Amino acid sequence: MIDTSLYKEKPRELCIESTTSCNCKCDFCYNQNSFAKNGRDDNGLSTAELKKIIDIVSDAGIERIRFTGGEPLLRKDIFELASYAKEKNLQTVLNTNGMLIDKQTGEKIKKLFDICLISFFSCNKKYVDSVTNVDGTYEKKVQALENVQGCKQIWCSTIIKDPYLSRDLFKMYDIMQKYNVYNWFLLRTNPIEQNVNPHNFEEMEKIIDSIIQLKEKTGFILNIGNPLPFCCYKPRELQKIVDDGVLYAEARSKMVLDPFGNFVVDYCIRDKIGNIFKDDLLTCWKKEELNNIRGEKYLPNECQKCKYKDQCLGGSRFASKIMYGKYGELDPLARPYKYKEILFDE
Ligand SMILES: C[S@@+](CC[C@H](N)C(=O)[O-])C[C@H]1O[C@@H](n2cnc3c(N)ncnc32)[C@H](O)[C@@H]1O
Repeated sequence: MIDTSLYKEKPRELCIESTTSCNCKCDFCYNQNSFAKNGRDDNGLSTAELKKIIDIVSDAGIERIRFTGGEPLLRKDIFELASYAKEKNLQTVLNTNGMLIDKQTGEKIKKLFDICLISFFSCNKKYVDSVTNVDGTYEKKVQALENVQGCKQIWCSTIIKDPYLSRDLFKMYDIMQKYNVYNWFLLRTNPIEQNVNPHNFEEMEKIIDSIIQLKEKTGFILNIGNPLPFCCYKPRELQKIVDDGVLYAEARSKMVLDPFGNFVVDYCIRDKIGNIFKDDLLTCWKKEELNNIRGEKYLPNECQKCKYKDQCLGGSRFASKIMYGKYGELDPLARPYKYKEILFDE
């Protein structure tokens, strides 16, 4: 059972959107609605500023630092920063699309990053290229997996997007096995303005059925990252696979820093919580605004009465906020009435 209050005092990691630039144009990407709204030319903070941030993270006793973006490998100083973070004994994560990982870069990643997280959308080449809007993406991602072999931990995230993902899940699993992927997880797509309702129930049911089959046949536990309400599927079954997905978002484990040094609620909710050069990091993490989101304040009435409340936490408050403009509405993927006999003690 996951302790959802695990990171109440301090975040598990600080995630830095280290550059606005990217070499892909993924059609679902939440960056489009935040810092990339006005183009992707700003390279973000300077090397000296980022080193200062690394000092702050280390002093705050946070164990992990993640370089994301945009595409972090577009920063020329990325390995200098990772090396500095290692000197401070921080666990380093590279959140990359893998497009720039040739052999030489792979070697540097192995030395300086504890976790190399590569986004891997599908095993259908044409589909991958069409999502990123760049030809040859699929081959580059596979090559990247090859070139980081030997890294302490290789992770892959797969956004739930490809319409054939449920059919191809076992093929994807074979790729993950072949490349020694330590942690593979599926990501619920966060709504963005252009696509406020990225999932439907039928699609989620098919995916969850395939995940359960995968688990039964191979013993592999494939988690869904980003919270899903348990009443999206058969609650007792879903409970087994969402695992620590509830911790991925909703201000529960990650503190997100935008390319200009502002703390924001999340990658997809850009309200500013403070500035790393002006405000104390841990004080910002414990601000009421974030506590309210991660706590029970915004739980809809139905969720308040549900017996899975403490583990499900109402699914995604972010999805509710983006879809309905309020944190306190039902998650768009919740169906409490469909499963009322299971959820509520009459
Ligand atoms: C914004 S990207 C930045 C890092 C790197 N350029 C990459 O593509 O992996 C970080 C992660 O966010 C995921 N992502 C982007 N838009 C998303 C959305 N709307 N919902 C959920 N995940 C999303 C991507 O698939 C990727 O795994």
